Amino acid sequence: MNLNRTKYCGEISSRDIGKRMTVCGWVQKQRDLGKLIFVDLRDRTGIIQLVFYDKLDSKIFKDAFSLRGEFVIAVSGVVRERSSKNHDIPTGDVEIEVDFLKIYSKANTTPFEISDNLNVSEELCLKYRYLDIRRGKLLKNIVLRHKIAKITRDYFDKNNFIEIETPFLVRSTPEGARDYVVPSRVFPGNFFALPQSPQLYKQLIMIAGLDRYMQIVKCFRDEDLRSDRQPEFTQIDIEMSFVDSNDIMNIVENFIIELYGKVLLKDVNRPFLRLTYDECMKRFGSDKPDLRFEMELIYFKDFLKDTNFKVFKNAIENGGTVCGINAKGASDKFSRKEIDKLSEWIKAYGARSIFFTKSKKNAAPTSSFEKFLTNEEIDNIRKLSFFENGDILFLIADENELTCMESVGALRLEIAKKLSLIDLKEQNFLWVTDFPLFEYNKEQSRFIAKHHPFTSPKDEDLKFWESNPEKVHAKAFDLVLNGCEIGGGSIRISDVNLQKKMFNFLSFSKEESYKRFGFLLDALCFGAPPHGGFAFGFDRLVMLILGCESIREVIAFPKASTSAELMSDSPNKLDKEQLRDLSIKFDD
Ligand code: AMO
Repeated sequence: MNLNRTKYCGEISSRDIGKRMTVCGWVQKQRDLGKLIFVDLRDRTGIIQLVFYDKLDSKIFKDAFSLRGEFVIAVSGVVRERSSKNHDIPTGDVEIEVDFLKIYSKANTTPFEISDNLNVSEELCLKYRYLDIRRGKLLKNIVLRHKIAKITRDYFDKNNFIEIETPFLVRSTPEGARDYVVPSRVFPGNFFALPQSPQLYKQLIMIAGLDRYMQIVKCFRDEDLRSDRQPEFTQIDIEMSFVDSNDIMNIVENFIIELYGKVLLKDVNRPFLRLTYDECMKRFGSDKPDLRFEMELIYFKDFLKDTNFKVFKNAIENGGTVCGINAKGASDKFSRKEIDKLSEWIKAYGARSIFFTKSKKNAAPTSSFEKFLTNEEIDNIRKLSFFENGDILFLIADENELTCMESVGALRLEIAKKLSLIDLKEQNFLWVTDFPLFEYNKEQSRFIAKHHPFTSPKDEDLKFWESNPEKVHAKAFDLVLNGCEIGGGSIRISDVNLQKKMFNFLSFSKEESYKRFGFLLDALCFGAPPHGGFAFGFDRLVMLILGCESIREVIAFPKASTSAELMSDSPNKLDKEQLRDLSIKFDD
């Protein structure tokens, strides 16, 4: 009997009634009704009901009787109309009356039921990821991820981009996150690094004259995981020559329009809103603000300068600030205990504690700073924040302005979640522009690049470089979707002297610069076009398009939160021979 599949299970419909079909897949369930056996057969497209009658050759009926969940089979038979239809599945009008059955493989009882409606611990799901994928939800995400990748390649191809693979074994250039390293057998004691991104290679591709490059590429960063972070993740990486920031932002916006149109059949308005980094920090306390709700930061520094309350006074006198947010109408949503909990939680952002003032409807306001401020100061705080009955105002004071803003920014998000202020259906895109070129790293007592050391400064800010480097802005831009940074890009330095100045300023000696980046400095001397580019976090983009909460839901084989791979149990120890080949010796 020819067992070539005629159709996938989920594609059989009433148009096939009377036709012979061969289908194959996994047994979802078997129901034995004595003279009749029903089997639900599943493949990646859906489920079809099979029916076996005992008038069949007894071997087939016996085999059908032996079928259990997750057995792998192929069957052939004629499609019939079902007498009792199942309106819950797309194939519910039909069934296949089987007259041939082949069992390819039996299956043990699975560690969890292959059903989407079941809560299974994430650890177990990751250990048996292939079974988790069979449950359907992940499978759907993986198929959509493929579709998004296909639309991506088609879009960039249509726009003249060429997909070029860049190496995975590269030079370690510690700057940014920690590298994953790979020992070299041929050069004992030497290591390759896995790329954190193809940044330098794509710049060299521009110098090579390819003009427009793209790649859907794996990147590797050894950093602590979060729900939107994985140690190996995928970028849609692009680079273009002879462009400015607007050209790159246009290409990216049009890509988003195409993607949303094709995947979600949704229109997205463009141009996307643009805010500078300074404005984002000031108004929302974040460089990736979620703009699906308001609740902007309010500053009280101006009239609290002369206060006698030490906490506020010290913060302001030492260059910091006092700012807060007004959660309108939410005073009864926060008990004292809950505020204390928030006060503990905020410490992770560097703030010491939270102050508040609240008033229940029709009751006099109370404040945690009542005893310390004058009535006039309290009145001013309330006036400035448009405080009304029923509101609760949260305040933070800190000697470091950035810590204060970022803490209130984090609180803003937390409170919006608690109060369900976020419209989950909205897709809010935002460009954050004009990032500072440098940030001062206290631990290393030096400036480091805010993005990466190949980012071009804004021409009009070059004059501040020596006198006030923190005032130099970069030709850099991030794309934020619903408070998540889904991509970042910039115009690069294409002038060798500026690149040398940059390395020098970041405290690399001339020798060090050449040792690490000599190949780039050389290349910049052989005719470098002005160029710039962008990289999307592909997993994050897919996660947000599909409405998932973690990028693990859109990655076939992700790492657990410990960075381990639970299915194959890696990382693992190497045996002595392998270590000897790699010239690696451990003290113990
Ligand atoms: P950047 O470091 O901002 O820029 O990375 C680009 C985007 O990649 C995503 N991303 C991650 N996604 C999942 N897990 C991670 N650990 C992770 N780290 C980053 C984010 C981020 O916006 N070479 C530059 C791009 C350029 O300038 O062209 C770069 O890599 O969504």
